[in-house]
Amino acid sequence: MNQDQLKQLVGRAALDYVPAGEILGVGTGSTVDCFIDALAASGVAIPGAVSSSERSTQRLVKHGIKVLEATEVTRLAVYIDGADEIDGRGFMVKGGGAALTREKIVADLADQFICIADESKLVQTLGKFPLPVEIIPMAAAQLARRFARLGGEAKLRVGVVTDNGGHILDVTGLSITDPLAFEAEVSQWPGVVTVGVFARHKASVCLLGGADGVKTLKF
Ligand code: 5RP
Repeated sequence: MNQDQLKQLVGRAALDYVPAGEILGVGTGSTVDCFIDALAASGVAIPGAVSSSERSTQRLVKHGIKVLEATEVTRLAVYIDGADEIDGRGFMVKGGGAALTREKIVADLADQFICIADESKLVQTLGKFPLPVEIIPMAAAQLARRFARLGGEAKLRVGVVTDNGGHILDVTGLSITDPLAFEAEVSQWPGVVTVGVFARHKASVCLLGGADGVKTLKF
């Protein structure tokens, strides 16, 4: 199976985690696109979804699934999203699709984060995938200096403006051995909107697609 087929496989597997009759939190990315398509094709009826991006909103609406604002809900049972990296403890790097801020906001509303990914995303230590950080533009140079002190090289993602009007730095060269401490530290640097380490909002379950089918990792 190629990577696209694995994404379809885990997209379908995630249907088992859709809570009957409840509003669902929906992430962003090509794996989530597969999940949205599978949800629409399944006929499983949900009262609506809270979406983490304009991209997912468009796809949900195209399938006739009602989209609610995050401000309209007080809690979600489940949030389903992909990841750029996930480690053996459920800590993740996210934001390859520049949707990390809204993803963290919707994940914060949810009791359970169900991560859907192909097996290439499973890593020993986070940091090989360039770490996305949404920032306020005027802080870019100072934040690049701060990352350099941690051994990272930050590059502006050229031509990308997020759904919130922010910019993205992609940081290479990091080895994130303590994701909770790293997230706590970087989150309070002036100009950081959201760091793409999801440690406080880690996965509860990861459905990992591989040659042998879907493995369920529980954290
Ligand atoms: C978007 C994300 C995605 O979940 C992540 O980039 C994985 O995407 P894909 O499913 O396309 O591999 O964090 O901001």
